Formats: sequence, structure tokens, C-alpha cells
Amino acid sequence: MHNEKRPTQVIAVGNQKGGVGKTTNTLHMAAALGELGKKSLVIDLDGNCGATRGLGVGTDWLGTFEVLLGDQEPLDVVVTTDQAEGTDLPKNVELMPARRNLEDFESEYRKRNKFADPTGTLAPVLEKVRGLYDFVFLDTAPNASAPTIASYRTAEWFILSTEASKLSVDGLNDALTDIVAVREAGNAQLRLLGVIMCKVDSRTRIATTYVDRIRKEFESAGELGAFDTFITRATAIERAQAEGKTLFQTQPDHKVAEQYRSLAREVLARLETASKINKTVEFKPEVREASNA
Ligand SMILES: Nc1ncnc2c1ncn2[C@@H]1O[C@H](COP(=O)(O)OP(=O)(O)OP(=O)(O)O)[C@@H](O)[C@H]1O
Ligand SMILES: [Mg+2]
Repeated sequence: MHNEKRPTQVIAVGNQKGGVGKTTNTLHMAAALGELGKKSLVIDLDGNCGATRGLGVGTDWLGTFEVLLGDQEPLDVVVTTDQAEGTDLPKNVELMPARRNLEDFESEYRKRNKFADPTGTLAPVLEKVRGLYDFVFLDTAPNASAPTIASYRTAEWFILSTEASKLSVDGLNDALTDIVAVREAGNAQLRLLGVIMCKVDSRTRIATTYVDRIRKEFESAGELGAFDTFITRATAIERAQAEGKTLFQTQPDHKVAEQYRSLAREVLARLETASKINKTVEFKPEVREASNA
């Protein structure tokens, strides 16, 4: 099953604000990339188990809590469609589930390891799955719990999820500050891959105004900014999530599924561009060495 070696991109999806589409975007992006033949592992790092529920997986399986504590091997707890009866995950999507006990992770970890850092536990887990997936998505919680901080500290890429509303726009600066702080705190490689604007009510003038403001905010911040594609508000999403499914399983022809396909193509294009720029950056030290010689 897991035999090919693939270059793996680790993407944390976050926003310290709650209910802004982090989980929905994670699952739908993974599903859209799956249609394109890209294989994803979604790691549920939220004690509320949003990704686990959103994929219709029970919240009683061993998962991130045990893996982060080192009690289980990552691949032993990953849920796949063929492995668990009654599970129907989107094509090319696998899940490392969470249970409510994830909320006790930090205290349990500190009980066992008085002097070690609980946010250092995710990196070795990612090393064990690297090469097996095209994407690892880290679905984070709207708080500064250890698994969330670990995600920010360990990922290569960050996707910021936001609504196009006044409150969300006002909070974007905090989100940007967080990313800069993570870089300063040791994960210098963390880069913003983009901002997903979701639940946009495109029939209202005010929502489109916020979409424009978000685009501008990031242009001036000198970061990769909002994706061109935004996700509109649709009750079909809520209905699908209530069933533990993505739109790709319930209504693959829905307009919003199409938006996620377009977003997935943007993600691939940005990564492709970044890899070319990286090659140029990697080339630089050689040039310097040559001139020093
Ligand atoms: N495009 C959309 N249209 C309508 N409802 C949506 C859309 N996207 C997400 N939702 C709904 O909004 C709610 C919050 O979304 P979601 O759980 O993805 O946010 P979150 O940021 O992960 O939340 P939390 O911070 O609690 O983890 C959910 O009920 C979800 O079904
Ligand atoms: Mg969530």
C-alpha cells in the first residue's frame, strides 16, 4: 500500500479564531487534491476532533494523542477506507484521527517527561510518514494548545483560513504576527502558502468588500497572499459535514466543490513556483563559494 517515495509537503491549516473554516478547508482541499491523484494524510490535532468527525470517523480510535506520546506508531493508527469497515473517506485521503483525550496531551506528556518540550513531539512523527504522501495537512485547534503550537513549529507551509467578515479581517493582523513569531521562535522555514477566504456570501456587497480588503492586507505584508479562488457560503457544506462527508462525496458537481478544485490547482501552482525559486536560492551559496575561492 505505502511503497512509493514522494516528496511530501507539510501544510498547517490554521487561525487562532474558531469556526473560520480550518477543518472544512483542510478536508475539501485534501479531497480535491485526491481527485488529481495526489495522496494526503490529514492529521487531526484538535481535541474537538473536527477533521475526524468531518470524515465520518468515530472519535474512539487511537490517534494523535497516543502517537504524540510515542505509545503508537503513526501508520498503525492511520484510518484508510479499505481498512476500517463502514468508513468511506474521499479518494486518496487518509486520516490520523483524534479523540477528546488530545486535550489532556500536554499534562500527560509533562507527567511523563518533566523537562522535555511537548511541542517537539510532532516532528519525529512527520519524519515517519514523509515520503508516503504528497501532502500532510495539519488541522489545528483555535487555541494555543501544544499540538497546535507543534503544528506551527513543524510545518513547512501555512494556509490561513478566514471568513470575509469584519471580525475576521480585524483578526488577520494577529494571524500574520503569529506567523512571524513562529519564524522567530525557531521555525524559520515556515512560509505562508496562501489565505483561503471561505463562507463568502457573494450576493452581498459587504462580503465582496472584505474579500478585496483581505487581498490588499496581504499584498502589503509582502507574503504570498489570498488565493484568487474564494469559497462561497453553501448549506450543502453543512449538510455534508453533518453526514461526516465532504461535498466531493455528496455533491461532487456542486459549485463549491468546483471552487475547491480550482483552489487545489492554485495550491499546486504556488508550490511549483516555490520549488523553482527554491532551486535558485539553493544555487546562491555555490556562487558565493566560487567567488570566495
Ligand atoms: N463554505 C461554507 N458554507 C457554509 N458553511 C460552512 C462553509 N465552510 C464551513 N462551514 C461551516 O462552518 C462551521 C465552521 O467550520 P469549520 O469547522 O471548518 O471551522 P474551524 O475553523 O475548523 O472551526 P474550529 O475552530 O472550531 O476548529 C461548520 O459548521 C462548517 O460546516
Ligand atoms: Mg476545526
